[in-house]
Amino acid sequence: MGIKFFDEFIFGTATSSHQIEGNNKWNDWWYYEQMGKLPYKSNKACNHWELYKEDIVLMHSLGYDGYRFSIEWSRIFPEEEKINENALDRYREIIELLLKSGMTPNVTLHHFTSPHWFMRKGGFAKEENLKYWGQYVETVVEILKGVKLVATFNEPMVYVMMGYLTAYWPPFVKSPFKAFRVAANLLKAHALAYEILSSRLKVGIVKNIPIMLAASDTERDKKAAEKADNLFNWNFLDAIWSGKFKGVFSTYTVPESDVDFVGVNYYTASEVKYSWNPLKFFFDARLAELSERKTQMGWSVYPRGIHEAIVKVSRYEKPIYVTENGIATLDDEWRKEFIVQHLQYVHKAIEEGYNVKGYFYWSLMDNYEWKEGFKPRFGLIEVDYTTFKRKPRESAYMYGEISQKKEISDELIRKYGLKAP
Ligand code: BGC
Repeated sequence: MGIKFFDEFIFGTATSSHQIEGNNKWNDWWYYEQMGKLPYKSNKACNHWELYKEDIVLMHSLGYDGYRFSIEWSRIFPEEEKINENALDRYREIIELLLKSGMTPNVTLHHFTSPHWFMRKGGFAKEENLKYWGQYVETVVEILKGVKLVATFNEPMVYVMMGYLTAYWPPFVKSPFKAFRVAANLLKAHALAYEILSSRLKVGIVKNIPIMLAASDTERDKKAAEKADNLFNWNFLDAIWSGKFKGVFSTYTVPESDVDFVGVNYYTASEVKYSWNPLKFFFDARLAELSERKTQMGWSVYPRGIHEAIVKVSRYEKPIYVTENGIATLDDEWRKEFIVQHLQYVHKAIEEGYNVKGYFYWSLMDNYEWKEGFKPRFGLIEVDYTTFKRKPRESAYMYGEISQKKEISDELIRKYGLKAP
C-alpha cells in the first residue's frame, strides 16, 4: 500500500546563494575564505550564477514543483548605498523562469551571508544597522512579484550560535552577551521586513529544529534538554508574537510581529545532558548517536524526528513547509531510502491533520558546505567541480516521480529497489 499526498503539496528542492552561485566576492564568508580563516574557498562554487538557466530547465525536466533559493544581499548592495541593477535583473529573471515553468519560488532573503561592508559596521550586533537591512528589503520587494513564499532569515539561531557563541563561523565572535543581542536584532529585522512585505507577499521565517533528546532519564538531564530546546528552538519563535525574547541574561523587548508560514529545516537530533558549567548555560548538547551509520557530516539519521519537529512547530497554528531536509552521502541508495523514510513521516503528520504544505529537499545539487567545503554531497544532482557538469543521480529521478504523482507507490518502491515501508 503506497502513500498519497494531496494534489497541491509542493515537492521542491533547496539551495542558497553562497553555496551554489560562485564568485560572491562581496560578502563576509568570501572575505574570511580569502584571509584563510575558513578552511575552504567557495570560488566558483557550482557556477550557478552563469548556469542558472540550465539549472532551472533541469529541475523542471526532473518534475519538481518548487525551488527554494536565497537572494545574495551583497550582490544587490556590493557597497553601501550602491545598488547593482544587473544582479536585481538576474534574480528577477530567475523568478520569472521559475514561474513560467510552473514552479513555486520560495525565496530566502538572508541565508547566513551578509555584505562585508555591513559586517564591518558591526552587522546585526548593532541595532542602528537595521536601516541597511530595511533598505535591502525595500529594494528587493520590487523583484518579488508573483512569489508565493518569502522567508526573512534562514536558521537565525544557527547564525547566532555559530557566529557569536561557538565562534566556529564568521564573524568568529565568542560573546554570549553579543549573541543574544544579535538574536534580538534579528527579531527586529524580521519585524521590519514583515512590515515592508506582508501586504503583498506571504512572509515566513525558516527555523532549524534539532530534536533535543535527554541523555538519560534523570530529572536533571530531562530539564537540561528542555532548556536547550527552549533556548535554541522556541524562545526565538515565541518572541515573534510576544515581543519578548528570553535570552539567558535578560529579556529583550522586540516589536510584536507575525509570520504567514514557518519553514522547518530538519536534519538530526541532539543529545543533551546537565552541565555544571554556567558558561554552557548548564547544559551540554552534542550530536545524538541514533544510528550506527553516520552521514558525511557525522550525523545520525533519525527520520521520526521530522514528525516531532512538525508536531512541535504546529503550536503556532501557521502553515508549515519543510524547507530543508537532506543527507550528505556518496551512497545514492541511502539517499533514496532517506527521502522515502522522511516523506513517510511528513505524510503521517498530514494524515494526523498537521498543516504541512510542502517539502524542499536539501539540496538540488552538490554544493559548498560552509566549513566542510565541497566534500559533503547533499545533491540530488551530482556536480563535477572542474567542468561544472550536472548529472542527476537516481534519487533525482525518484524524487521527480514522487513529485509528479504525489505518491510513493509500491511500484516506485520496487522500481528503485527500496525496502517496503
Ligand atoms: C543550512 C544549509 C546547510 C545545511 C546542511 C542547513 O543548516 O541552512 O545552508 O548546507 O544545513 O548542513
